[in-house]
Amino acid sequence: MQKPKLTSGALPLVGHLFDFIRKQDELLQRGKTEHGNIFALNLMGKNVAVLTGAEAKKVFFKETDKTLNMEEGYEFLAAIFGKVAFLADHSTYMNHRPILHALFSRARMTGYLDVMVEVVSEWMDGLGENGEMEIGSEMIDLVKEVAGRSFLGAEINKQLGADFWQAYDDLSKALDPVLPPHWPLPKFIRRDRAKKYVSSVLYPIVRERRANPQDDPFQMLVDVRMKDGELPSEEIIVQLLMALLFAGHETTAGQAAWTVIQLAQHPRYLKLVRAEVDGVLGKGQDFDHTTLRNLSHVSMAVDETSRMRPSAETIMRTAESDLPVGDFIIPKGWMVQTATAVDHFMGEVFDQPDLYDPLRFSPERAEQKLDSHAIIAFGGGLHKCAGMNFANTEMAVITALLFRNYDLELITPETQVERGLGSSRPSQTWVRFKRRDK
Ligand code: HEM
Repeated sequence: MQKPKLTSGALPLVGHLFDFIRKQDELLQRGKTEHGNIFALNLMGKNVAVLTGAEAKKVFFKETDKTLNMEEGYEFLAAIFGKVAFLADHSTYMNHRPILHALFSRARMTGYLDVMVEVVSEWMDGLGENGEMEIGSEMIDLVKEVAGRSFLGAEINKQLGADFWQAYDDLSKALDPVLPPHWPLPKFIRRDRAKKYVSSVLYPIVRERRANPQDDPFQMLVDVRMKDGELPSEEIIVQLLMALLFAGHETTAGQAAWTVIQLAQHPRYLKLVRAEVDGVLGKGQDFDHTTLRNLSHVSMAVDETSRMRPSAETIMRTAESDLPVGDFIIPKGWMVQTATAVDHFMGEVFDQPDLYDPLRFSPERAEQKLDSHAIIAFGGGLHKCAGMNFANTEMAVITALLFRNYDLELITPETQVERGLGSSRPSQTWVRFKRRDK
């Protein structure tokens, strides 16, 4: 069997690195056009097999933690959070997994929804009657507040202060899956300083809570047992907290901002959303899980944005031994990745994939059902995003309440995808807002 064929345009030494950072979607589409669903890239001398299409993706998710190793691809995250949960080896991960499940149980989600509604309502009170805002940075502040209050509780979150979240920004800026994370670069030095600061704030909070239990959401994280029946150490709780506050932040903020931007760009669909939010939230009803279920047009808008503008565009693994996929063999040591830029735009699955059309997710059309991994914005298989419901709920709450209460007009004519190495987000986008008549 043959190895996946190299996509054109690789430069000496760096390979496809520059295209991967600046024009990832074009690069991945080029690979597919030239070689079909399975093709190769070169990133600074590393061979990377890209697996797209239903069959190859199935292998990708099924082989994760077997032939496909997650640890190496996430060394840049482990350099921040330590070897915890999905950043650890498989058996440690399975031991930590009940903590993730407990955090996102149905009962907990009800509490989180209340926090989300409270935080978004307070934010809108602060916006006032009219003005202008940069939607991306507003979303970052919102989701930080939601994550902090959800996982630590309102009181502890208040004590964290601006320095804590500033340190998180330094952690975000050091996300880099390509350069070795221990290189003495300024961004990695700032990362290590920020990490030290964040843990120095969190350790005493965890220690104090172990000594003096209270009845709040944070206590659950401190008390939940691992698969082996043991309580997690202070170190594990601090590492998990750091990772949760982080995961609940950049990815969600980016997709939330895009959801708002794409709706403002598509007034015909926005009309359907408006009619829905006015009907469901019109008379100041409580915003609970039943309300959420009735906001199907909002939820389809959130899904369409996850398809077209996913924050996590690729997921990386490493082949631990030779792996046959379709007609190809991926040699041991190669990196292996998925590609939303190809899969979320497959003509075989999605009708007119380049069009913004949230109704493709309606029960009548349900285009995504053609492939069990049609949408991989939140991954798939064993490691599928633990916070997916949390993020989708948060994005729906923000969208519903914002468009229920405000008219928005885009000032920035065209928003671009801004690619960091870790996740993508919208370029600076200014909107004018005006409170609607109640
Ligand atoms: C729009 C927002 C989000 C996106 C696009 C996203 C994306 C992803 C993706 C693609 C994965 C799979 C990684 C892999 O297989 O290598 C993942 C895993 C994970 N995500 Fe998210 N995520 C989001 C929000 C969140 C939130 C809000 C949380 C928690 C507060 C969270 C926590 C996690 C955790 C713990 C995992 C690892 C799960 C496991 O290994 O079992 N994510 N996420």
